[in-house]
Amino acid sequence: MTADFSDNLFANLEEPWAEPLEDGAVVLRRFASASGPALLDAINRVTEQAPLRQMQTPGGHTMSAAMACCGPWGWVTDRQGYRYQQTDPLTGQTWPEMPDIFRDLARDAAARAGYPDFEPDACLINRYLPGARMGLHQDKDETDFSQPIVSVSLGSPIVFQFGGDRRSDRPQKVPLEHGDVVVWGGSSRLRYHGVLTLKSLAHPLTGACRYNLTFRKAR
Ligand code: SIN
Ligand code: FE2
Repeated sequence: MTADFSDNLFANLEEPWAEPLEDGAVVLRRFASASGPALLDAINRVTEQAPLRQMQTPGGHTMSAAMACCGPWGWVTDRQGYRYQQTDPLTGQTWPEMPDIFRDLARDAAARAGYPDFEPDACLINRYLPGARMGLHQDKDETDFSQPIVSVSLGSPIVFQFGGDRRSDRPQKVPLEHGDVVVWGGSSRLRYHGVLTLKSLAHPLTGACRYNLTFRKAR
């Protein structure tokens, strides 16, 4: 029997499986693995138009993750606060269109998690290099909390923290790998969450770098 490149490629692809996290929240393990190369191509296309940049928090700190957006609405932060807006403050242009492969993945993952009507109008791309992290926060700048959050991990592994409804609630630590998708909604929609510091672990597709795609219904 001959083993060629495509055998090896597919041998490395596991069948996805679901791990319930909390009421309304689930980790869809490896759900996006097979689409990894195409998703990374799409990230590169989007970030040629809307460059990744480290934004300022309202308190004046520079975020360690670099961000860009696509879709009708983009999430931004600066000294004025957190908000969604239709133009990229860096270029003055509307955000790039959301690639079909992004929208399809977000809809499929939401449906698999029990949210069949998810129509994302915002996608935030976060890029973490070694040393970058994201502190515990709630996603609460959206108008309709009946719609879930769909969060896709690509590249290097990281530890996701899934907390409670109060910042002081002790978070669960959930190790995430390339292709894992976390979906939270319903009674989990406003849970505090974040990621621990990215370690310097290379992934074959990205090097020592992790991308996170967060899909929301902003308006
Ligand atoms: C976020 O909450 O915006 C990002 C979380 C992650 O990178 O997994
Ligand atoms: Fe978030």
